[in-house]
Amino acid sequence: MSLLLLLPHLIIYLLLLTVVTGEFLRPRFYSDSCPEAESIVRREMKKALIKEPRSVASVMRLQFHDCFVNGCDASVLLDDTPNMLGEKLSLSNINSLRSFEVVDDIKEALEKACPVTVSCADIVIMASRDAVALTGGPDWEVKLGRKDSLTASQQDSDDIMPSPRANATFLIDLFKRFHLSVKDMVALSGSHSIGQGRCFSVMFRLYNQSGSGKPDPALEPSYRRKLDKLCPLGGDENVTGDLDATPRLFDNQYFKDLVSGRGFLNSDQTLYTSRETREYVKMFSEDEAEFFRAFEEGMVKLGDLQSGRDGEIRFNCRVVNRKPIDVLREF
Ligand code: HEM
Ligand SMILES: *[C@@H]1O[C@H](CO)[C@@H](O)[C@H](O)[C@H]1NC(C)=O
Ligand SMILES: *[C@@H]1O[C@H](CO)[C@@H](O)[C@H](O)[C@H]1NC(C)=O
Ligand SMILES: *[C@@H]1O[C@H](CO)[C@@H](O)[C@H](O)[C@H]1NC(C)=O
Repeated sequence: MSLLLLLPHLIIYLLLLTVVTGEFLRPRFYSDSCPEAESIVRREMKKALIKEPRSVASVMRLQFHDCFVNGCDASVLLDDTPNMLGEKLSLSNINSLRSFEVVDDIKEALEKACPVTVSCADIVIMASRDAVALTGGPDWEVKLGRKDSLTASQQDSDDIMPSPRANATFLIDLFKRFHLSVKDMVALSGSHSIGQGRCFSVMFRLYNQSGSGKPDPALEPSYRRKLDKLCPLGGDENVTGDLDATPRLFDNQYFKDLVSGRGFLNSDQTLYTSRETREYVKMFSEDEAEFFRAFEEGMVKLGDLQSGRDGEIRFNCRVVNRKPIDVLREF
């Protein structure tokens, strides 16, 4: 490609470099540069919801997996390259994270309306909010103005992302490292009000909890029988089950399920069996409005996580843009 064609991108890139340091996140960040940005994301998420209801949950999960690993910088969206093992194949993400094509569709629509303006990191934040709003949950204003990472780290994802076996104590400590309180952690776990998980994530609970050779005693018996049938020993562990009784509706059913011993993941059920988190589960199970308020607050705090590293606005969410220096070399 000739330098002439890339010149506008190059200039935009250099301009961005100059403002990176003084940057802060704020609502309506794109109101001048791309006024339609938020409505385009909402429109594409509506399309995704109609095409495959589960996909909006899968997209919402990306915010958690992106923001915990070196801040909300769309690192989770990067494909592996010969020089970089990205996050997609990390322990928690492999055969599990999905619906990246929804993000691609949103990016494509945004590139048509406003080329190289809206970051992939901001797309994840807007789309996650929309996933909740479109499935019956709260709608809130998101802060924007993030940059996309220049790299990703499988190791960092392996080191940070929690296992479905995690207990409440471990999760409290983990979330504290990200300035998230016990209440934030319990509320954010309420994201499991939508979507599904694999048998792979619950086999140990069903057949060998903590190496006991027995199921998790916290499992309500009829729910356990249902899961045993869905996930038999030696069966296909890619089969999926609902994370709560109303997996297409963002509501407080998840917390009601925990109270009745019908949490899907061990990390879910432990929030009710543990003294430190139990009162929040009870509260959210009885007061949906309180859950919604706490969830919004948690999502905004989660979205505030930033690495402080240099970033860019990617053309394509799966690959890092070429650096200006490479472009000049080619010329
Ligand atoms: C508290 C610690 C958490 C743990 C241990 C955890 C773990 C998991 C696991 C194991 C699955 C199922 C994956 C599979 O079997 O393939 C899952 C699904 C999901 N998680 Fe979490 N998660 C946590 C917190 C969060 C947070 C904070 C969010 C979002 C803000 C979130 C959003 C989701 C969603 C929406 C799904 C369903 C995705 C789909 O249907 O594709 N999770 N989580
Ligand atoms: C919770 O998990 C941690 C780390 O996996 C473990 O050391 C601890 O003993 C567990 N706590 C309880 C109460 O099971
Ligand atoms: C259960 O887990 C323990 C410890 O991880 C292991 O030694 C044992 O073989 C397992 N039992 C079965 C039936 O898989
Ligand atoms: C799930 O499917 C993937 C590929 O489709 C396969 O590589 C993996 O081994 C399967 N995982 C389990 C737990 O069965």
